[in-house]
Amino acid sequence: MNIGIIGQGYVGLTLAIYASKSYRITGFDLNNSIVNKLNSGKSHIEGISNQDLAKSISNGSYRATFNPEDLAKSDVVIIAVPTPLTNERIPDLQFIDKACQTIAEFVHHPVLVINESTSFPGTLRTFIKPTIEKYSPTKIMHMYAISPERVDPGRSDFNQKNTPRLYAGPTPEASEKTWNFYSAFCDELVEVSSPEVAEAAKLFENTFRQVNIALVNEFAQIAHALGISVYETLEAANTKPYGFMKFSPSAGVGGHCIPVDPTYLAAAAEEHGAPATFIRRANEVNSQMSKYIVRRVAEDNGGNLQGKTVLVVGVAYKPNVADVRETAAELVIQHLRSQGAVVSWHDDVVSSWKGESSAPLNGADIAVVVTKHDSVDAREILASAPYVFDTTGKVKGAKGL
Ligand SMILES: NC(=O)c1ccc[n+]([C@@H]2O[C@H](COP(=O)([O-])OP(=O)(O)OC[C@H]3O[C@@H](n4cnc5c(N)ncnc54)[C@H](O)[C@@H]3O)[C@@H](O)[C@H]2O)c1
Repeated sequence: MNIGIIGQGYVGLTLAIYASKSYRITGFDLNNSIVNKLNSGKSHIEGISNQDLAKSISNGSYRATFNPEDLAKSDVVIIAVPTPLTNERIPDLQFIDKACQTIAEFVHHPVLVINESTSFPGTLRTFIKPTIEKYSPTKIMHMYAISPERVDPGRSDFNQKNTPRLYAGPTPEASEKTWNFYSAFCDELVEVSSPEVAEAAKLFENTFRQVNIALVNEFAQIAHALGISVYETLEAANTKPYGFMKFSPSAGVGGHCIPVDPTYLAAAAEEHGAPATFIRRANEVNSQMSKYIVRRVAEDNGGNLQGKTVLVVGVAYKPNVADVRETAAELVIQHLRSQGAVVSWHDDVVSSWKGESSAPLNGADIAVVVTKHDSVDAREILASAPYVFDTTGKVKGAKGL
């Protein structure tokens, strides 16, 4: 079968390379430079090696393209485009809308359209299907299904093959075709009763993380006020063999999922008259961690950061990836600068960001560790400044934590 995948980012490319073991994949992306890099065998995604990419290209099972006409021969078309928030922090379906338009304009025979992008319950039935139909020059009866992606970039123990995959179509035939497609490269497929359940399950998984991260971030502040170690307390609680799951405090949440997806659920809830108080409060607690951290750093340094040089260590949103989307480091840097600090950052995985380059890991008055990659030695971080504030719990011996 020919499979067209719209969007060749974290989700689309990862899926493409796994599925290329069983199918012929056309990876369509609007970004020419990503397409050219991919076709020359250079992966831009952690978890997809250049060797795996080159293998799929050389055996003819994968090709990237920015020409939408190349989707015309697809039997299955998968949507894997961003679903961000607008500046007003409300769901932004503009990329899905554009992907629907591409399908409508360039796929002129009935196919199975599967959405893997994360969005609110009802997106498949009330947005994707009608949008494709709205843009279609002729009436084509596509089949539709949803299978939300659960990939965790940078993770090696769980992948496309061994992560159970949820799926549902509005009709039994669509569900069966969806099973046929994924079962070629996924070990476990879990059918749910409707697309809305699959869409909601994905959002709830990430909301569960968002709320628990907020809870542990609030607890970190409580523990500090009580004069006890948050880390020791969490380890102690974690000795309970049931009913407890350990989350770790941090400078906030980042990435394309945890700061964003819960707001899709909250928006859908509120549209239906159901309050989403936990979600809204968790967003607040997580986004205010940066202010809390800067306040603690100032308190430990004479109450004033004016003119002090501060090195933020690790600007990726999580360890061992180069992804800086929604990174908590951005807010930490903003607050430090608003206090008059002279801020630079070090991150050998990210290297350059927002027109700035990674600074050497030394020479500052203060270092604030936001993300600790495995490639950075904790001892080097401790030696980088006379005062180190660690938000990760991984730099033992830091003066502030
Ligand atoms: N990154 C993750 O860890 C992850 C995990 C699970 C689910 N998701 C969800 O998957 C979806 C995609 O996320 P991602 O991380 O892969 O995004 P990404 O930004 O890494 O990649 C998206 C790609 O789509 C391309 N694109 C945008 N609009 C397009 C269009 N109309 N036609 C063709 N290409 C287009 C962009 O150029 C980009 O290369 C989102 O809904 C996200 O929430 C992401």
